[in-house]
Amino acid sequence: MSEALVCVKDFEKHAFAVLPRNALDYYRSGAGAEETLVHNRKAFSKFKIRPRCLRNVAKRDLSTTILGEKVEIPIGISPTAMQRMAHPEGECANARAAQAMGTIFTLSTIATSSIEEVAQAAPYGTKWFQLYIYNDRQAGFKALVLTIDTPMFGLRLADIRNKFVLPPHLRFANFSGDKATGINTTEKGSGLNNYVNRLFDQSLEWKDIRWLQSITKLPIILKGILTAEDALIGADLGVAGILVSNHGARQVDGTPASIEALPEIVKAVGDRVEIYLDGGVTDGTDVFKALALGAKMVFLGRPALWGLAHSGEEGVKKILTILKTELDYALAITGCASIKDIGSTMVVHEAYYSR
Ligand code: FNR
Repeated sequence: MSEALVCVKDFEKHAFAVLPRNALDYYRSGAGAEETLVHNRKAFSKFKIRPRCLRNVAKRDLSTTILGEKVEIPIGISPTAMQRMAHPEGECANARAAQAMGTIFTLSTIATSSIEEVAQAAPYGTKWFQLYIYNDRQAGFKALVLTIDTPMFGLRLADIRNKFVLPPHLRFANFSGDKATGINTTEKGSGLNNYVNRLFDQSLEWKDIRWLQSITKLPIILKGILTAEDALIGADLGVAGILVSNHGARQVDGTPASIEALPEIVKAVGDRVEIYLDGGVTDGTDVFKALALGAKMVFLGRPALWGLAHSGEEGVKKILTILKTELDYALAITGCASIKDIGSTMVVHEAYYSR
């Protein structure tokens, strides 16, 4: 069966067939009418690759350096919540797959496996911790990925219709008490939205980045920036990285695709801060385009969940291997022997045709 699954889309189709409705809808959904959800993917095809020829690509190297550490591929795992709905080993299996592939795994604050469980499952892998700040404050890992696009969760209609709650055997494993299980009751609408509205700190401001910097020595990455203006404020505050993201189109519908927002952010701060991207990456050529437009690395949300739903750690490894192979082909055929050879002139917007 799995031999027939040769691209991310195949794994997505498989996940749609096997996941329970409640979990599938939660994983799949975007906010509102889901225009941005569709756009996140389609926008990649508006960028075209300009291949170069005869450049000796016999030996190729897909590795790169992120925050001073070597990673084997410029494709990591974004934080996605509640992964044990996709596979019993959830976040632990995902982290092990990232470790095996020599890349970065990011654990969500609202994971169904604890920091300690994931640390034990993948002791040698590079692990980042994604932070949501609650009304009362705490932290964890090698870098902190502060998600700044989420004063509250977007309106995900399927979750409202389904009255989404976690299956009763699961909980938010980084917490105890109400913060661990408070999602599990809902009288009205999405239990997740009710939980987030009650417990996330909606009063966060830029000055709170200074507070976070004062209580941690870990590098801080700001996740969820879509404008040059916010990227400049972040760079001035001295953050280590910016993850250009519209949260997988789950926050407010109608934003640009992440890949469309990337160039203005690279132009504004690209030489001061490492820039990463997530949202709609499903093919090695998407990775190539993001790197040519100035991202140092891309991250996957849903594709890793589809891998988990297929076969846990093995499934995520398959997803990462597929994207790695596709990227390797793209490199070879465009005349690049390594990641640094992917120059900014190798990708143009489709408006190129009208010039
Ligand atoms: C997310 N995302 C997310 N982001 C975050 O900072 N903390 C979180 O807990 C979650 N949870 C989450 C759950 C699910 C099911 C999805 C699909 C997404 C957003 C995620 O980190 C990432 O930005 C997007 O998923 C990237 O888009 P793709 O790869 O899913 O298209």
